[in-house]
Amino acid sequence: MLETKEAIRWEDHEDYYREEMENSITPEMIEMISSELEIPASKAYGVVTFYNYFSMVPKGKYIVQVCTGTSCYVKGGQKLLDAFNKKIGLKPKGITDDGLFSLDTVRCLGACGLSPVISVNGEIHGRVKPGSLEDILGMYR
Ligand code: FES
Repeated sequence: MLETKEAIRWEDHEDYYREEMENSITPEMIEMISSELEIPASKAYGVVTFYNYFSMVPKGKYIVQVCTGTSCYVKGGQKLLDAFNKKIGLKPKGITDDGLFSLDTVRCLGACGLSPVISVNGEIHGRVKPGSLEDILGMYR
């Protein structure tokens, strides 16, 4: 089992992670992780690229996820993605010019009864209409 070394504990480097990483992991970070854990960089890279939760692309301060799972798709998930593009100029994997919001798709947020669903930094918004996206994002500005 891999031991967590103090040098890479979140609590010790939270400010750095939040301000410098832009919610993403850079190649330099992978080198640091591999060095601190004394594992090959390829192994750290493999973990970062395997899990959707990690990203090597900068993310916004607020990470918006639009669910494209079956229930949400049937209830208008694609219309939400279209509205993000049309009204906010944000496409999946994109980030707003001010760096405030980034957009991703996800297969299911576990709130199918509230379809269509989006989340903003993990906060669920259900039964979302395309016309309400600006109001929802306004809550985070
Ligand atoms: S399909 Fe969207 S929350 Fe489950």
